[in-house]
Amino acid sequence: MSRAVLFVCLGNICRSPTAEGVFRELVNQHWPDNNLFIDSAGTTGYHAGEHADSRAISAARHRGYDLSKILSRQVRESDFEEFDLVIAMDQENHSNLVRLATQTGNDHHVEKVKLFLDYSKQEAYKEVPDPYYGGSKGFDLVIDLIEDASRGLITQLVSR
Ligand code: 4NP
Repeated sequence: MSRAVLFVCLGNICRSPTAEGVFRELVNQHWPDNNLFIDSAGTTGYHAGEHADSRAISAARHRGYDLSKILSRQVRESDFEEFDLVIAMDQENHSNLVRLATQTGNDHHVEKVKLFLDYSKQEAYKEVPDPYYGGSKGFDLVIDLIEDASRGLITQLVSR
């Protein structure tokens, strides 16, 4: 049974903190006696120690999700020990995580790396698009996709 879930994007200030906050809220609503540990991180440390992007916080707040307490951090080797699922927001993050997991020398670590939208019902998007250089609509799309994939992931975790 998977107990710890890590969401990963590039900077850990837009997509993965949104995934952390949305997934946590939906898990708590639909699966009150869950025992999950949920966190997020970036493949880079460019924004380490920073709060989530204000546009991500604002878009999430309008949809009922609180990202205000999340601080950015970089992925570390021990994450592949501590987490059961290490879930990438896009293919580039996924490739980087597979490379990092391979470097640990433990094949089991590579199996933990997933692509988030593989849990999604919709089929138009295979990756959560990076909203950083775009407008506010990009942040709403990020939440739409993350809500959908979160429901799929919860269904899979509950059924195990
Ligand atoms: P994220 O978005 O990976 O969803 O957190 C980005 C955040 C920062 C940058 C790029 C994407 N950046 O280039 O600083």
